[in-house]
Amino acid sequence: MTDQMRDTADIIGRDDINDLEAILSVVNTDADEELHAVHSVYDTIFTWDYEKGRRAKLDKLYEKAKKTQWNGQTDLPWETEVDQEELVVANAVANGGFTEGVDVSGTSLAKWGEKEWIQFGVESQNWTLSQFMHGEQGALVCTAKIVESVPWIDAKYYAATQVVDEARHVEVFAKYLDDKLSGHYPINAHLRMLLDDIITDSRWDMTYLGMQIMVEGLALAAFGFMHQMTTEPLLKQLLRYVMSDEARHVAFGVLSLQEYYQQLSAAEIRERQEFAFEAAVRMRDRFLQQEVWARMGVDPKEIVPLLMQIEDRQVFQSLLFSKIVPNCKKLGLLDAADGWLRQRFTELGVIAFEDWSDTGEEYDSLQATPSADAVA
Ligand SMILES: [Fe+2]
Ligand SMILES: [Fe+2]
Repeated sequence: MTDQMRDTADIIGRDDINDLEAILSVVNTDADEELHAVHSVYDTIFTWDYEKGRRAKLDKLYEKAKKTQWNGQTDLPWETEVDQEELVVANAVANGGFTEGVDVSGTSLAKWGEKEWIQFGVESQNWTLSQFMHGEQGALVCTAKIVESVPWIDAKYYAATQVVDEARHVEVFAKYLDDKLSGHYPINAHLRMLLDDIITDSRWDMTYLGMQIMVEGLALAAFGFMHQMTTEPLLKQLLRYVMSDEARHVAFGVLSLQEYYQQLSAAEIRERQEFAFEAAVRMRDRFLQQEVWARMGVDPKEIVPLLMQIEDRQVFQSLLFSKIVPNCKKLGLLDAADGWLRQRFTELGVIAFEDWSDTGEEYDSLQATPSADAVA
C-alpha cells in the first residue's frame, strides 16, 4: 500500500461520484457462475492468552449472543401465505403509489399500466431479498475469517457466535425467496466488487471495517426501513430477528476497532478512511437496482437519472447511512486527516447523521428474539 494519498478515481474508479454512465456500466458478467473464488493471503493467528473477559465489552456481547440464538426453521411463522402481487399493491397503497413524484412522460415507462408496475414491484422484491441473501453470505465468510485472523480471544469467541448468526440469516433469506417469492437474482456487480475487496485485504481490521461497520451498518438501516414499510407479517418478524443480531454485529465492529485504531498511525487511519469511502460508494451504487430495469426490458440509463430526482428516493438512499456515519464518527474516522471522510460524506449527502446514536451504545435496545422474551 502506498503512503501517498489516493484521489477519488484511484479509490472508486471514477472521478465523479455521481457519474451515472460509469456506475451503470459496471454489470455482472458472470451471472451464471455457480462458484466464485477469491484469493486471499493473510495470517491465521493463534493466541495463547486465554484469559476470558480481558475485553469486558466483547465478553458481554459474547454472553448475550449465546442467550439470544433463535432457530430460523422453527421460530418464524412459515405457514403464512404470501401473495406477492397482492403484497406489492398493499405496500404501494400503504406507502404511496409507484410513480409518485416522477414524470415518466416521453420515456419507456409512459406505456406502463398497472400490470407492468406490479411486475416491477415483484421483481424489485425478488432483487432486494436476493441481494440481502448474498450480503449475508458475505458476512458469513468475512466473520469466519475474523475468527482466524483476530488476535484477541474474546473477539474470536464472539465472532464464532456471529458465524452461526450469519448462517441462519443466509438460511432464512434463501428460504423466504424459495418458498414465498418468485425468483432469485445473481449478486449485484457493485456489491460483489465490495465483498471481493473486503475479503482480499490481508489486514484483520479491514475485514471488520468493510463488513461489520459498512456492510452490516447499511444492512441494519435497510432492514429497519423494510421492517417498517412491509405489510407482510412473516417478513416483518424475520427482519426483526435478523436486525436484533445485526445490531450486535455492528457493535462488535465498533467496540473492536475503537481499541485497535488507537494504536494506528495517521497514515494507517487515512487508509481506513479511504476504504470506508470506497465501501460507501459501492453500496450506494448497488441500490440503483439496474438489474431489475434490465429484466423489465428498460434501459437503466434511460430511467435511473429520472429516479435520482425523486425526493423520497434521496431520503431513502441517505437513510441507509444513518448507522454508518455515527459509527465512523465514534471510531474517529470522520475527522482524522483534516476531516477527509467528513468531506466525502458531505459530498454523498449523508453527513447529517453524524450525531445519531452509534451502535456501540444502542444495540441492546434492538434486541428481539424468542428466547429474550422481547416484543417484535
Ligand atoms: Fe447477517
Ligand atoms: Fe451480521
